Amino acid sequence: MIAIILTEWLEFAVRWFHIITAIAWIGSSFYFIALDLGLKKNKSLPDGVIGEEWQVHGGGFYNIQKYSIAPPNLPKDLIWFKWESYSTWLSGFFLLAIVYYGGADIYLIDREIADINSYEAILISLVSILLGWVIYNSACKSPLGSNSNFLMLILFFFLIFLSWFYTSIFSGRAAFLHLGAITATLMTANVFFIIIPNQKIVVSDLKAGRIPDPKYGIIAKQRSTHNNYLTLPVIFFMLSNHYPLAFGSELNWVIAPLVFLLGVSIRHYFNTYHATKKKLYWTWIITFFIFALIIVLSTYKKNNETLVENIYDLERVYSLEIVELTNEVHDIISARCSMCHAREPLWDGYLNAPNGFVIESKEDIIKHAKKVYLHSAISRAMPPNNISYMEEIERFTIQYWYENKNKDD
Ligand code: HEC
Repeated sequence: MIAIILTEWLEFAVRWFHIITAIAWIGSSFYFIALDLGLKKNKSLPDGVIGEEWQVHGGGFYNIQKYSIAPPNLPKDLIWFKWESYSTWLSGFFLLAIVYYGGADIYLIDREIADINSYEAILISLVSILLGWVIYNSACKSPLGSNSNFLMLILFFFLIFLSWFYTSIFSGRAAFLHLGAITATLMTANVFFIIIPNQKIVVSDLKAGRIPDPKYGIIAKQRSTHNNYLTLPVIFFMLSNHYPLAFGSELNWVIAPLVFLLGVSIRHYFNTYHATKKKLYWTWIITFFIFALIIVLSTYKKNNETLVENIYDLERVYSLEIVELTNEVHDIISARCSMCHAREPLWDGYLNAPNGFVIESKEDIIKHAKKVYLHSAISRAMPPNNISYMEEIERFTIQYWYENKNKDD
């Protein structure tokens, strides 16, 4: 009992911390991108300064100047931006371990997708994240890296592969989370292994009176551009686990690469705007189109009806009146869901219903009909890992009940 309460609070505390650090990281990253692109040249600027910007905030004015390589005298107090990124990654990894490794049976695995055990699933998760970085980093360092646009195209194919890989090994929820986790790992590793070390080389060269090689800056810039385009998809994937339509469709492996494209089309608008004040409205048409495509794909699934093997089961469901159907759905939910989603769940390790979501009585079910429909009929998000062995005819019954119940309203 005490262990359950403590883990629950630990999870909440880590999640709280994780979101705070992520806000700080992405916030400072957005700030610097906009600042960098918005710098104005001006003849009266000191030597070595490539641009400046005036900003007003919090009751004062700021005049920021950027030195292309470094100022003639390096100041003693130099502020580095790195802990925002590192602490986001560390807390994110810890959260992945608590939620997805600790609850691998429920969150990570879906036996209908791949019949693996918890240890295998955790190993695949760890190795794939590590390998993802090794492959990405080698691609950037290889001759491919010299052509930035071509490199981006190759990386996009790599992301398509990862989308396919994760959705064919993990539950939809875990697959999307892993796409977020692997992308965020690339981003933090870019900061940790490339951007900051390169900057340190430049600083120490300057301190020693040597002229730094400009290649360090160019490499860092390339990685930071990748981070720029990956930011929005990461947030989409991290939030997606609340939306079964996003991760639960059979075409989730097509949806995921489109999410990465959304990141590019939205960022491109803002990057261009900050740099030139030009508003590329057409990018919003593309963004809208991709989003609409995602919505359409999210509803694609094999019809529950066709998955039911026994035709007599189907005919019986068709013959039921709404009242009888509601009773039937209540029975299904009592058998497949209520061990977790009850006021006092019987499922080991739960003190309360997950997310406070209770479907016990008929009234509960009618009240939450839409969520039940979305999570267990339209998508297969619930029961997690089909832990309570829900059958096709039961999913179909819920679908049929919901769709016809609403027709009568
Ligand atoms: C093994 C326990 C378990 C079973 C069985 C189960 N669920 Fe869940 N359910 C969960 C957990 C855990 C979550 C929280 C997931 C998360 O973190 O978002 C959840 C979340 C939900 C949510 C989202 C609630 C919200 O508002 O966020 C719905 C809806 C839901 N379940 C419906 C069902 C239905 C319908 C069934 C039966 C067909 C079912 N669940 C069976 C564990 C279970």
